Amino acid sequence: MEKNVIKIDFNNIDISKEEPIHEPERQYYFIAKARKLVKDKSKKLGRPLTCMVTTFGCQMNQKDSEKLLGILELIGYEQADSEKADFVIYNTCTVRDNANQKVYGRLGFLNGVKRTNPNMLIALCGCMMQEPEAVEKIKKSYSFVDIIFGTHNIFKFAELLYTRLQSERMVIDIWKGTNDIVEDLPAERKYGFKAGVNIMFGCNNFCSYCIVPYVRGRERSRNAKDIIREIEDLASQGVVEIMLLGQNVNSYGKTLKEPMTFAQLLQEVEKVEGIKRIRFMTSHPKDLSDDLIEVMKNSKKICKHLHLPLQSGSTKLLEKMNRHYTKESYLNLANKIQTSIPDISITTDIIVGFPGETDRDIEETIDVVRKVRYDSAFTFIYSKRTGTPAASMENQVPEEVNKVRFERLLEAVQQVSKEKTQRFLGQVVEVLVEEVNQQDQSLMTGRMSHNTIVHFEGDKSLIGKIVEVKLEECRGFYYMAKLV
Ligand code: 5AD
Ligand code: SF4
Repeated sequence: MEKNVIKIDFNNIDISKEEPIHEPERQYYFIAKARKLVKDKSKKLGRPLTCMVTTFGCQMNQKDSEKLLGILELIGYEQADSEKADFVIYNTCTVRDNANQKVYGRLGFLNGVKRTNPNMLIALCGCMMQEPEAVEKIKKSYSFVDIIFGTHNIFKFAELLYTRLQSERMVIDIWKGTNDIVEDLPAERKYGFKAGVNIMFGCNNFCSYCIVPYVRGRERSRNAKDIIREIEDLASQGVVEIMLLGQNVNSYGKTLKEPMTFAQLLQEVEKVEGIKRIRFMTSHPKDLSDDLIEVMKNSKKICKHLHLPLQSGSTKLLEKMNRHYTKESYLNLANKIQTSIPDISITTDIIVGFPGETDRDIEETIDVVRKVRYDSAFTFIYSKRTGTPAASMENQVPEEVNKVRFERLLEAVQQVSKEKTQRFLGQVVEVLVEEVNQQDQSLMTGRMSHNTIVHFEGDKSLIGKIVEVKLEECRGFYYMAKLV
């Protein structure tokens, strides 16, 4: 685990004084206070207190979990590798209902663990907690949970934990929204050589199936200078690859006092010394500019990979989804990108079973899959989210029909991506070495700029380095290779 260095001496914060009003100083103060309580408790028990953060959902949540771990570390918790820890936090997702169900299921298990450990605390945070129905259900049926907070006040974690440590009651703090972005909080990074960097929060698109705008709030961008400062800091700690994170990165900067485009931000990021690879996630097709394609084409650092969610290939459904593009305009865009950057990887997200979908609509989607030739695609069965416009649309599609269409789509996606991935066979390419292969310890796993996974013989010392390998065998979606 790597840390974002924050230059504060928490032992020197005067915790006898009243709490500061401003952030992040207020949270530094509560970190110092909680730290003292945890130290005392750990002395009494004769062992360190342990914590575990379990993340559900997307990279935004993973990034938020790193922030929670950074704070927990400073408070004095040691990371455990199981949920039999003194403090377990579930950072939840609610984009599809099965994510919610997983949380309820696992809470039952946690309750059992808590009965065997009187010191144990349980916290729930993340997108699911922004739904009032979920919070009500937890209050009623899972009253052993200690802390509940949402996506807008994650920066207040130290304060909420301190409040719980001081009282015996469940602490609940959910905000409906915020325009504030609190900078300079600690974070504990999972990898030393790569890091995610938030460039914006929230979403203003209101795709009719999607709950994200309701749980993550309105779109707001971080100032470019804060982003660049964070990336410079990361580079000075040895990070070589960064992933810029936002629900819709192509509309970055529109809400800033001095507006700036995503293409301009990328050019600034490119200048940061030490950073060798730049990735970003996610692009909305409606906002992808010619400038961005030009910047990607000319960049030495931006990876040759674009995640461009399609959702559906049917213009009729795209309109009902409120996506603001048609089948034709999406195909034209993909074509333009592939012409400018010939060997680029394009990946996508597709939803099967949106209300009113017919066999013809799914054929249109499969047609786009075959025309764009995606390197890979995440396929999802539509999940009805209460409060979204699609939830009350007519002609919800029965589960059995969705299953059949899903299989058809998956078959097409797998066939295309298998053929597409093979295009590099025999080439010598650069990979960033990420980890020891989990199945076979003699192999290392790396990633091409195109996001393709490559396994090759090597040793741990290569982790975090960019090395050249020869791609010798393509096994569907990944390669076996040799160091050159
Ligand atoms: N049902 C199924 N999939 C969904 N997604 C978002 N909302 C839903 C939903 N209600 C998918 C979209 C999005 C991805 C992150 O999750 O494809 O791009
Ligand atoms: Fe959801 Fe659409 Fe926003 Fe993506 S762009 S988070 S799918 S509303």
